[in-house]
Amino acid sequence: MAELTLKNLTFRYKNTNQDVLSNVNFTFESGRLYAIVGPSGSGKSTLLSLMAGLLSPTEGDVLLDDQSYKSLNLDQLRREKLTVIFQAFHLFPLLTAIENVSFPMEINGISPAESMPKAAKLLEEVGIGSEKHRRYPANLSGGEQQRVAIARALSTGAGILLADEPSGNLDEANSVQVMELLLELAHARNRCVIVVTHDLELAARADQVLPMKDKTLSNA
Ligand SMILES: Nc1ncnc2c1ncn2[C@@H]1O[C@H](COP(=O)(O)OP(=O)(O)OP(=O)(O)O)[C@@H](O)[C@H]1O
Ligand SMILES: [Mg+2]
Repeated sequence: MAELTLKNLTFRYKNTNQDVLSNVNFTFESGRLYAIVGPSGSGKSTLLSLMAGLLSPTEGDVLLDDQSYKSLNLDQLRREKLTVIFQAFHLFPLLTAIENVSFPMEINGISPAESMPKAAKLLEEVGIGSEKHRRYPANLSGGEQQRVAIARALSTGAGILLADEPSGNLDEANSVQVMELLLELAHARNRCVIVVTHDLELAARADQVLPMKDKTLSNA
């Protein structure tokens, strides 16, 4: 399935004179969960934004299956191949849980008649029972909202999952549950899962831990 490569990747924010990332080289493979760890300000979210195609490299390249992002339609990439889960979940507050999950499929042209049963199945798979499918996010716990966000991320079948502090708002039990869910996605469904986290204990569950150090991924 999908493989994401960073090649001599360097990034500096405009109007600043310091690189945030310098000469990062790494290949992320499908079927594995990677945890990127590092202190605040070390460039973790910046790296994730580059991998999501939301920022462009200052130098170097990001490649999906050997194809440079420069040659890809990045809107299409984010609709079909890659998905991002943010710390604050970014669920639509005026859509129910099931509508949140069905929405990306509808954007991709799938009819509600087809997308709603798929959304229900995805919610069941992340442990959200049918009695909660029609609740609004505000009426779900933080852990449940995060699982809805994961179900939504899975709805388009994207091979690459990027998650920025996916359990940042959650207590320990829920954090572990979210991490287990992401691990299962990597292992049982052959997704490439890349998680940014402050939490070293959670990170230790990953297949590979990659500390951000000196503006690059060490261990890499
Ligand atoms: N839009 C921006 N313009 C200029 N500098 C920025 C911008 N966004 C982030 N930075 C700087 O880039 C560096 C890396 O930021 P980044 O958000 O990637 O860190 P992080 O590792 O995700 O931190 P945290 O753990 O606090 O989320 C920091 O020094 C930050 O101040
Ligand atoms: Mg960050």
